[in-house]
Amino acid sequence: MARFYVTTPIYYVNDSPHVGHAYTTITADALARWHRLLGDDVFFLTGTDEHGLKVQRAAEANGLTPQEQADQTSERYSEAWAGLDITYDDFIRTSEPRHHRATAALMQAAYDNGWIELRPYQGLYCVSCEAYYTEAELIDGTRCPIHGTPVELLSEENYFFKLSAFTDPLLVWYEQNPGAVTPESKRNEAVGLIKGGLRDISISRTSITWGVTVPWDPAHVFYVWYDALINYATAIGYGSDQERFTTWWPAVHHLIGKDILRFHCVYWPALLMAAGVEPPARIAVHGFLLVGGEKMSKSSLTGIAPADLTSTFGVDGFRYHLLRDQPFGPDGEFSFEGMVSRYNADLANNLGNLLARVSTVVERKCGGVGPAPDPSSALAVVAASAYETAAGAWARVAPSEALEATWRLVRETNSALEAAEPWKAEPGPAVDAVLGDALESLRILALLASPALSRASQEIWRRIGLPGRVEDQRLPEGAVWGGYPGGLTVERGNPLFPRITK
Ligand code: MSP
Repeated sequence: MARFYVTTPIYYVNDSPHVGHAYTTITADALARWHRLLGDDVFFLTGTDEHGLKVQRAAEANGLTPQEQADQTSERYSEAWAGLDITYDDFIRTSEPRHHRATAALMQAAYDNGWIELRPYQGLYCVSCEAYYTEAELIDGTRCPIHGTPVELLSEENYFFKLSAFTDPLLVWYEQNPGAVTPESKRNEAVGLIKGGLRDISISRTSITWGVTVPWDPAHVFYVWYDALINYATAIGYGSDQERFTTWWPAVHHLIGKDILRFHCVYWPALLMAAGVEPPARIAVHGFLLVGGEKMSKSSLTGIAPADLTSTFGVDGFRYHLLRDQPFGPDGEFSFEGMVSRYNADLANNLGNLLARVSTVVERKCGGVGPAPDPSSALAVVAASAYETAAGAWARVAPSEALEATWRLVRETNSALEAAEPWKAEPGPAVDAVLGDALESLRILALLASPALSRASQEIWRRIGLPGRVEDQRLPEGAVWGGYPGGLTVERGNPLFPRITK
């Protein structure tokens, strides 16, 4: 059986979930749903990144322990994902003991292999921030940009990962795995970073306590990124269940935003090599959602909470917009107007209208009982090509193209109805044939659109009289023309996607 392991970045717990986070998570969810339809064994991981100075500080400011702070915000993420029908299999939190164990095991392996060593580290330090700055970041090269107070030259000993030694192995890996990082522009960016020269990196701190303790030197904790990345290995049993780990690794699909490309496409493969583990099979990098040209984030006040939008567009409308209108790869402008027009065009006027028409005419002309489709209908060809194109697009992590292909079947079916005008005709075999075909299209559409429309697809399925759950169907056989049996009771209901007029 094919296996599909998909991950999102783990989100920081000093922020609350916004549409940018939802974008990656919904994409991963849609992919997981598609692969489940294919009958693959799927493991979908998301979670929260809970260590580091930022969380420690936020906790202090709120009068909480770091663990309490992490507990509260992590829950906001799991709540947000529940509200968006996210079907993750595991939600990892880096403060969990299992993650501490896996991180210790992986780093210990890299240390034992000779790739980590203690070195003096000297830097310009702001005591109030408890952070190092580079000269360029300081006011006049001497004062903290936040506090305005003079920084101190401080020395401590840090563990360093000998990243520079991995320049050639990384370049060889990129050469041998041309599809490992997509799109190609992002792959080239990663290769450029490596060719530009890699410096050894400091991976531990003695000034913070909220983190994973360095197993061979408990005075240190790992700097947050070097425990965070390891979450992907923890969740599938690294260091505790090697058999499970090797069933899922390295066939992983990491979905990430372009802001964390360096960590995932340079540091992470190198760290894995250092520990004697193969690099990830696939890293798919997407751009930012922008509002008025600016990256969405809480601090720039453009961070819109998903719930602000699902109240207007519904969970389906929101998921559909992100998947269909924001191609995976480039940056995309995010606007309320754009959402309204896409929703009205594709969902209200096209798919919703198709279901409304078909159920109304079946009630009037067929006594509410859905006829069977014509095996040699012209729409059969359209459906087959929609499936082929959609399947190819999902495999390339291109949900917008997959949905565009799927909606071709919506449009063609509407056109066939408009050409035949069954609402004007007398009941009889001609009307039955047209409606049988339209019902079959709706059945296939419910299936193909279900990775995006987590709710409406099941409702379409139910209204056209089909038993069971869409998610229990299997592809490709489920998309083969002729599956609608006919003789089922079709229900006329409220509009599935009421038009939005504001
Ligand atoms: N904790 C790290 C990731 C560690 S993974 C081992 C982190 N967290 S984050 O909370 O800042 O989330 C970053 C991710 O959220 C981005 O990589 C991206 O997937 C998503 N996005 C955050 N803002 C976004 C936009 N404005 N647009 C699209 N995605 C964005 O970095």
